[in-house]
Amino acid sequence: MQIKGIDIEKCTQCGACIQECAPDVISKFVDETNPKGTVVKYDDPYDACSRCGHCLAICPTEAIDYSDAEPTFASEGVKKPQDVPYSTIMEIIRARRSIRQYKDKPVPKEEIEAVLEAMRYAPSASNEQNWEYMVFTDRKQIQTFSKKVTSVIELTHKLVSNKIISNVFIWGNTRKLVKDPSFLYSMGNLIKKVEEGKDPIFFNAPCVIVLHSPVYGNMAGCDSGIALTHGMLAAQSRGLGTCWIGIAQETVQRIKKLAKWLGIPKGRKVWGVMILGYPKVKFLRAPPRKPLAIEWK
Ligand SMILES: Cc1cc2nc3c(=O)[nH]c(=O)nc-3n(C[C@H](O)[C@H](O)[C@H](O)COP(=O)(O)O)c2cc1C
Ligand code: SF4
Ligand code: SF4
Repeated sequence: MQIKGIDIEKCTQCGACIQECAPDVISKFVDETNPKGTVVKYDDPYDACSRCGHCLAICPTEAIDYSDAEPTFASEGVKKPQDVPYSTIMEIIRARRSIRQYKDKPVPKEEIEAVLEAMRYAPSASNEQNWEYMVFTDRKQIQTFSKKVTSVIELTHKLVSNKIISNVFIWGNTRKLVKDPSFLYSMGNLIKKVEEGKDPIFFNAPCVIVLHSPVYGNMAGCDSGIALTHGMLAAQSRGLGTCWIGIAQETVQRIKKLAKWLGIPKGRKVWGVMILGYPKVKFLRAPPRKPLAIEWK
């Protein structure tokens, strides 16, 4: 799926897509030829668009032009999964979105427990059920966690922006990655948001859940992914939104000091970080996905 642009005839300039676009590649520009004096444009010189589809999922007037995709599915009329016919399951699955805008409203403990309870019923290799969770609800602690992650990103950005370091000390695929303009843009944009006082890691969510488990075989990551997915779907049925925060997970995995600050016991590894809260946005349809790649044998 590729965003092509915005149909200015259909666009009411409500700004919902601008608010929702994490890499900030949609903005309002001055345009004297337009009766409103401004125009909303998709402007992405570094190809930083993550193809999340949130702009087209939120636009009330279907003004976002995109290509190479199946039609979207409207997510209205989603029921609670009581009788669970396939169509209901699919409605719930399609209606889930990663939420990056939250109300300033704490999540009650029993709601968090309800989400964790759904995770408890996830399948796991050899039925290990080795997950343990850390739940952060203290705003100051969440801010400190976010700052610790961003300081690692700032340092990494400084290092990879240095030509000598990136040409001499970084090789192979990592060098390819750090020279990718969209990677450098995304890092720079994240740092800019921090300077503006925003939280581009946890998006001011009132709850952060860290999942850790022992390092066993190759299955621990899979088990954790399934558990968090259960939690995501359960959260949605309680009116809660979630987003998996891989950037925090990777940083904790790389930086031992941060794992220590979190209090991750020795021999255990963080396999997932998820935020939870009441969404400030409502998506109207599911963005398209890549077609299934199947080889029938
Ligand atoms: C393993 C994993 C890591 C992710 N890491 C991040 C992250 O660090 N920050 C973020 O804003 N979104 C993150 N996401 C959310 C994805 O960007 C999102 O799932 C994708 O764009 C599709 O959008 P949807 O979840 O609304 O369908 C992550 C998702 C997964 C599954
Ligand atoms: S969400 Fe749609 S109508 Fe609103 S500014 Fe974006 S393109 Fe225009
Ligand atoms: S698909 Fe996502 S990243 Fe790309 S322009 Fe739309 S909201 Fe922004």
